[in-house]
Amino acid sequence: MAPVCPAPSGERYERLPDYAKPAHYVLRLEPDFESFTFKGRAEIDVEILKPTTKLKLHAKALNIGAIALHLANGQEFRDLQHTYSDTAQVVEITLPVEIAPQKTKLSIDYIGVHNDHMQGFYRSKYTADGKDHWMFSTQFETTYARQAFPCWDEPVFKATYDVTLVVDDGLTALSNAMEKSSTVEGKKRIVKFDTSPLMSSYLVAFAVGKFEYLEGKTPKGTLVRIYTVPGKKEFGHFALEVSTKALDWYGDWFGIPYMMPKCDLIAIPDYSMGAMENWGLITFREIALLFDPAKTSTKQKTYVALVIAHELAHLWFGDLVTMKWWTDLWLKEGFASFMEYLFVGYNYPEMKIWLHFLNDELSSGFDLDSLKNSHPIEVPIENPNELDEIYDSITYAKSNSINRMLCFYLGEEKFKQGLRNYLQKFKYANAETKDLWAALSEASGQDVAALMSGWTSQMGFPVVSVNQLTQENGKRVLAFEQKRFLADGSEDPAASLWKVPITLSRSGQPDEPFHRFVLSEKRQEETVTIPDLEWLKVNQGTTGFYRVRYDEHLLHPLVTATGNSQLPVLDRFGLGNDLFALLFANQVTVDQALSFLEMSRNETEYAVWRSLDMGIARLGGMVDYADENGSLKKRFDRYLIDTLRNTADRLGWTYTDGEDSQVGLLRGLIIGRICRAGDEKYNAKALELFHKYIDSNVPLHADLRGPVFGAAIRAGGDKEFQLLRSHYETCGFPEVERTALVALGQTCAKSGRLETLFDYAITQGKVRTQDLHSLFMGPACTRSGQQWVWDYFKKNLNQLTEKYGGVQTMLFQRCFKFAAEEACSEAIAKEVDEFFCGKVDPSSLKTLDRPIKQVSERIRNNVKLLKEAGPQLDAYLKSKGY
Ligand code: BES
Ligand code: ZN
Repeated sequence: MAPVCPAPSGERYERLPDYAKPAHYVLRLEPDFESFTFKGRAEIDVEILKPTTKLKLHAKALNIGAIALHLANGQEFRDLQHTYSDTAQVVEITLPVEIAPQKTKLSIDYIGVHNDHMQGFYRSKYTADGKDHWMFSTQFETTYARQAFPCWDEPVFKATYDVTLVVDDGLTALSNAMEKSSTVEGKKRIVKFDTSPLMSSYLVAFAVGKFEYLEGKTPKGTLVRIYTVPGKKEFGHFALEVSTKALDWYGDWFGIPYMMPKCDLIAIPDYSMGAMENWGLITFREIALLFDPAKTSTKQKTYVALVIAHELAHLWFGDLVTMKWWTDLWLKEGFASFMEYLFVGYNYPEMKIWLHFLNDELSSGFDLDSLKNSHPIEVPIENPNELDEIYDSITYAKSNSINRMLCFYLGEEKFKQGLRNYLQKFKYANAETKDLWAALSEASGQDVAALMSGWTSQMGFPVVSVNQLTQENGKRVLAFEQKRFLADGSEDPAASLWKVPITLSRSGQPDEPFHRFVLSEKRQEETVTIPDLEWLKVNQGTTGFYRVRYDEHLLHPLVTATGNSQLPVLDRFGLGNDLFALLFANQVTVDQALSFLEMSRNETEYAVWRSLDMGIARLGGMVDYADENGSLKKRFDRYLIDTLRNTADRLGWTYTDGEDSQVGLLRGLIIGRICRAGDEKYNAKALELFHKYIDSNVPLHADLRGPVFGAAIRAGGDKEFQLLRSHYETCGFPEVERTALVALGQTCAKSGRLETLFDYAITQGKVRTQDLHSLFMGPACTRSGQQWVWDYFKKNLNQLTEKYGGVQTMLFQRCFKFAAEEACSEAIAKEVDEFFCGKVDPSSLKTLDRPIKQVSERIRNNVKLLKEAGPQLDAYLKSKGY
């Protein structure tokens, strides 16, 4: 069903003209902590490339003063007139005469604002010595540099930058390059920085405030500092270790040493995303950089390593070589995402990062890309206001997964050589997807564009059905057939085809493919040599970005091999993950999927369980809607408790020294699920641990914090709610705060406490805007909470839009998704389609178009699932005595 809003007319967005381009910026900014404004002056070396009577460049929320232009012959035009277009965010300067191609200098005086929307040159609040303080830092990607200085704010306009910051004496001032000089004039300190490398405007950065730091050097001599607000630098040791390792490691891997003498990493108290790869001055959300051995969970420590590795990979993929236009955003995000795993895989093997890859990347890429309203990796972008929504699981997780697929296909050495060629050829310049394919083709001798372009230019991915036609004397004839996998099991009208790198493994050789080929046609037969009694697995190691559907004959031995762990872990993951996805698409039965779950009772690997748990969660969410009195849900919960009990008891509550971190993760996962299913013994124990921790300060293992907080809030009442809210206020550590918020949101929707919580957090502003979306996660787990949070969202649209600074922002869109997408009702799907019409202006509506369609598609998929799988589940549970 199509959304019923009229298509917004909107102005067509205009790219900056090609008659002029910047070569060098001299920027001087003077932030003021009293007025939250800054005085700015930009002197820009502008090359006029074609005769022109005007200049156009970007600006937003800047109060522009005097404008002057110096010509090459020394002539100067002062007080130039300009007009401003708010929608295009473009300043148009009128020149008194036509200027011929030449080198000119444009100077602009202006005043800007340190806003609190976490974009541009914005302000952040922190508390030290019991008082509130402010600091300023920047977030320019994608189009916010123009809020700090007038500029050619498109990635293709690379220039060098000389930055000067004029700050109150006693404060630290940072920018991309190394400090060149610092002089005091009265109460001000004038800090000048070296000239930056040639780079895009979205990578410029500044930070001003009272900071402290830890410092180290890489073996090759790069100076690395971890900056924090006062009192937090001791949480920077792990970040310092990872970053000093990674800079040199990447330099070696890419064959190009890091290009600057220093790299600062700074944790910012108010931050919209996870982190940002500004060249030489990388900014982070505190939770993404800081680590406390006593308080940080295993998952979060891994995340910190990954984020740092991701941003440092960008220094090559993104900063040195930049996409020409945002359509090719994946060229930096997909590669930084792949490199982060490669780095962590080699340098922190104990994190078993490739197992985490499966759930966090592969599976999340599958999830979004199986919607009809997905988009291709190479996504047409006309208006950069529409950009926030494409920083999604397609640009990150799918891109990352197809990189992994290609790396396996070509082999790491050839893949590396191709990337090296690409970086060498386009350094300090811009590139497109086809440039990457050309470099990889050259290195590998294969036609990489032919193989890969289908994966980046069309949306979706295939499910490959495999049928065994004949089997005789160690030879089998198999039929492979591909079609687009859609989450609701429907047919793809576009009949897309991919070039699918197929790999096969077998019992006798489980860890390495014994047969490979590329499936290009819709249907292909393949003869393989394999002993008659052996099982055969397609997509060995789950390295391909496709799902597999086996005929019963092939599936059965694989399920058995899962039960006795003869199937390697990556394959057990793949089999289970595919089975549940196929169940949700109505292509295998509840019976088949739940038999697999039961077969996995003795499974010891977190990664496999995590994927099964996602399947359980989706079924659990659905059964909540099956009947008014919740009887199917209660029966399903009893079934789950019985199925998980042994695993939970085997794992217990106790962490032992030297235990594999994956066991600890699994313990948290299983305990969390069995508590949600309502197991009395486990809930009682969770409540006991909660009170010991809160009331008497008895340590609680960081990996159990989420499950224990959640269980205590769901099973407890006002008292636990109050205790956890006070803990949120006093714990002083971002990860604990976030876990508390997620848990508080799980309080009973009928108790009135959700009203208290959201009012406290949002209306009274007691929770940082950057963290509000965590609140929206909790309620959606139950039917009544889901309804409550969607109603809240609808009633408070204006308040939320204001907080986030617009509906196009990523954090707003996250709240919207959390508030609605778990719903299972046609009525809500329809409301989602219609809700925003007339409530947000047409151009903003356009930025919400795809998210709205994705959310309502998901809701309708839930409805369909309930209709198809509900009765099957009911019958299955009956047959098992539930
Ligand atoms: N370049 C992005 C930050 C970004 C995201 C800027 C969206 C503008 C819009 C950065 O490199 C990034 O990808 N950050 C991720 C973390 C990463 C580990 C995936 C983030 O912020 O979540
Ligand atoms: Zn990134």
